[in-house]
Amino acid sequence: MDLYKANEAIMERMAAIEKRVMDAKNADLYYFNQPISELRGGARVLVKGREMGMFASYSYLGLIGHPKINEAAKAAIDKYGTGTHGVRSLAGTLEIHEELEQTIADFRGAEAAVCYTSGYVTNLTVISTMLGRGDYVISDKLNHASIVDGCLMSGAKFVRFRHNDMDALEIRLQQVEPGASKMVIADSVFSMDGDIIDLPRVVELCRKYNAWLMIDEAHSIGVLGERGRGIEEHFGMPGAVDIKMGTLSKTIPSVGGYISGKKELIDYLRHASRAYIFSAALPPGQAAAAKASFEVILEEPWRVEKLRKNASQFITGLKQRGFDTLQTETAIVPVICGSDEHAYMMTREVQHQGVFVLPVVSPAVAPGLSRLRATVTAAHEPEEIEHAMDVIYEAGKVVGIV
Ligand SMILES: Cc1ncc(COP(=O)(O)O)c(C=O)c1O
Repeated sequence: MDLYKANEAIMERMAAIEKRVMDAKNADLYYFNQPISELRGGARVLVKGREMGMFASYSYLGLIGHPKINEAAKAAIDKYGTGTHGVRSLAGTLEIHEELEQTIADFRGAEAAVCYTSGYVTNLTVISTMLGRGDYVISDKLNHASIVDGCLMSGAKFVRFRHNDMDALEIRLQQVEPGASKMVIADSVFSMDGDIIDLPRVVELCRKYNAWLMIDEAHSIGVLGERGRGIEEHFGMPGAVDIKMGTLSKTIPSVGGYISGKKELIDYLRHASRAYIFSAALPPGQAAAAKASFEVILEEPWRVEKLRKNASQFITGLKQRGFDTLQTETAIVPVICGSDEHAYMMTREVQHQGVFVLPVVSPAVAPGLSRLRATVTAAHEPEEIEHAMDVIYEAGKVVGIV
């Protein structure tokens, strides 16, 4: 019997995906993994020979390709080469790692920081290092998949509360068994909806019930706060979050993830988290690029201000054109399409007019809330945003959404 026939359940899962892909391809509705061949200025890209306006980027401050950041990466490669000598705890730690961690700690207003090789891995390893059997992890229902996976991996009792609903969170906290350790985890800016966690209330509840608080700032660094320092700056609550997680792959144009917090927490993670001990260190070019990026954010505060204006123009303009953009207040702007098919059709219509947006469909979002997950960045000019909105509006009319 061959491998496939002997493992029917696996085969069925594979066949289901293959069918979905084939159906989408046949209907010219397949927009997965389109390779970008060139960056053309901050907000334009070349895709399959066509120049398009980029409205699907995580590079919120438009830092991809920034000369200082590129130079820092090149200099680090010249100095250290392209790899490290192993995992951080053996021969893998380079001076550039320590410099990056100090830069992050200073930027985040924390005592110390530790880096990992991806944001996904950071959530997995940190949650499962902090928590174990008998503990409780209380997670917002719309938290990112890497948080969910970290919670499952930890073995702690995994409970979820209704999205950004503080009464629901309090009920969950009250249900924790007396004496059990507990942690509350939430995204700061939710990655699919673009709304912001109610940090003042979360902090109040965590203090009342003595719970640790971990916040994932993947989409808020460079986006929230006057200087782009994130959610604590946004709400004027320095030091309110115990475990500040972030990525080096979005506003920061590199790759990796990090935690900042108190020195004893960071020391503990260095000695106990498995992704630090058993996985190779960040490559030096990427570490140097990340370090330079935090510096650029502070040196060029106009980017944060411009992003705020651009986001406001984009959200207001789409609402005026009749689209539902949920509760977003940030650079992530969901354009609700309804069914998966409508989201794919919108993508096709919009991309045909030279605007690069991508769909997000179920199960990544609830059925019926499939959408274009459009983003705006500091690299866009007001006329480009206006044009993209007109294109989305025309597509919305064709598909029958507005
Ligand atoms: C909220 C959130 N956390 C973590 C991650 C994972 O980060 P990375 O892509 O750097 O691994 C993402 C990535 O999309 C995210 O949106």
